[in-house]
Amino acid sequence: MLIDTHAHLDFPQFDADRQEVITRAQEAGVEIIVNAGAGLEASQAGVALAETYPQVYAAVGVHPHEAKTLNEGVLEKLRALAQHQKVVAIGEIGLDYYRDQSPRPVQRRAFQQQLALARKLGKPIIVHDREAHDDVMNMLRQWVGEGYQPSATSHRPVGVMHCFSGDLAMAREVIEMGFYISIPGPVTFTNARRLPELVRALPLERLLIETDCPYLTPHPHRGKRNEPAYVRLVAEAIARIRGIPLEQVARITTTNARALFGLESPGAT
Ligand code: NI
Repeated sequence: MLIDTHAHLDFPQFDADRQEVITRAQEAGVEIIVNAGAGLEASQAGVALAETYPQVYAAVGVHPHEAKTLNEGVLEKLRALAQHQKVVAIGEIGLDYYRDQSPRPVQRRAFQQQLALARKLGKPIIVHDREAHDDVMNMLRQWVGEGYQPSATSHRPVGVMHCFSGDLAMAREVIEMGFYISIPGPVTFTNARRLPELVRALPLERLLIETDCPYLTPHPHRGKRNEPAYVRLVAEAIARIRGIPLEQVARITTTNARALFGLESPGAT
């Protein structure tokens, strides 16, 4: 059994065949899909999907691209939406200095406001960081230092670095802070170097797997739309890189995702 910890099933790329996509995921052994919120409307759509499909859970948040849309009214709506029983995280939130679709100070303010929201609600966060490592790390250090008690006194997980793009030193620091590192489809690319290095060096107990579909399609489907069923290819790549059985990767990354998002184990009611 596998968990896709980051999907965008609400995106229009899935409008024509969403049901089939979810069925294919199930057939591939993907028992749970966490839909990440890219904005208020996307978050509302994600919650609606979680209400429709038992295996879908939702995170709610405003992506750094949409940071300029976050105002007090939107924040209040996110807060209300986050009370839903299938909302398991605040995200995706963070900073994106690659595309710069919202001004950087606006991105930092939106990130800060949503970090505070997560703190208030006691929810884990899904972090998007693209070419903004220094500012993301400074804000996370402050956030973790303000209240959470990471590994020293408790092992309560605080969030996940989605589609992680930092180096090994940064990975080790965020793990120490209580974060998981999520491995996306590019780990399967034949020319991948950085992600396999991380997969080899980091404890499996701190890794999650994701698709970020419809983007980041793994080999051999590269160039086509991504979908949650393909998270299996990510798990297979990790098994190959570490020289361990797929079953072990599936079991441990699924346990990790359940711990982070507070998901019950199968059989529990
Ligand atoms: Ni995403």
